Order: sequence, then structure tokens, then C-alpha cells
Amino acid sequence: MKRHPLLIPLAREHHASLVFAHWCQTTDAAISGPTQTDAHKRLRDFRAHFEAHAATEERNLTNWAMAPELQPAWKRMQADHRAIRRALEDPLGAIELQALGELVEAHTRWEDLVFSPALESSLKASTSAPLKALTPLSAQDHSDEHPHAASSA
Ligand SMILES: [Fe+2]
Ligand SMILES: [Fe+2]
Repeated sequence: MKRHPLLIPLAREHHASLVFAHWCQTTDAAISGPTQTDAHKRLRDFRAHFEAHAATEERNLTNWAMAPELQPAWKRMQADHRAIRRALEDPLGAIELQALGELVEAHTRWEDLVFSPALESSLKASTSAPLKALTPLSAQDHSDEHPHAASSA
């Protein structure tokens, strides 16, 4: 599937989210001891990654997602982001890590498989000039890379 140029870098970043989600669901580390430096570093790094990624989505896609048919999906995206930010705030034990991993994986796959295709369909169907302006003429030249983000975790 061809991706809109605004979505390509976001889809690429999803690979890191899926790797993190997989780690959360498979690690034995309980993030409570002072020796869990690797786990703490992973969490710190992912907080930074996720905050930058989610902020970019919320900023760059907001006008695009104003189409009425996209409102439920836009609200879900924001709710997912809030839930992930909340889950990342607290010190994490094994149970919380498992839940965080499930949350991040479900959100990331939903964006790749449902939300991004819905955005693209809405853009194709739109007659709005400002929305059409989101598609540069060069889009067809640069959107033939498939990030494989949804299947690369
Ligand atoms: Fe997101
Ligand atoms: Fe995302």
C-alpha cells in the first residue's frame, strides 16, 4: 500500500514502538530494583520516542482528521495516546509492563491497519482544497515505500 508522505515517517517510527511493545511483553525485568538500569533506560528512551511521535501525529494530522467520518478514529487516537502517556508515568512492575506492551502494540497496529488507511481514503474522497493541498504533487514519487511497520515487530 502506498503511504501519504505525511504518514511515511510516522509509519517508520512504529517499528520502534512495536519492538518496545514486544520487549514489554517478554522481559522478565520488574522495574523496581536499583539494578534494572537497562529496563529503566528502555523506558526512558521510549518515553522520549513516544512523546515526540505522538505530538507529531497530534499536530500534523489534526486538520486532516477534521473530516466528520474521521472523528471517532481521531478521538480514539487521542484517548490511546493519553492512556499510553499515563501508563508511562508510573514506575512499572511486571504486570504494568505487560499491560503497557499490549497498549502500545494495539495502538500502533490500529494506526497502521485502520487509522492511516482511513485517513488516506478520506483524503481521496475529499473535495476540500485545503485537504487536497496536503497531497503534494511529488507524493506519487515518494510514497511507494512500504514501511512494513505492522509486521516487523
Ligand atoms: Fe499514535
Ligand atoms: Fe503512531
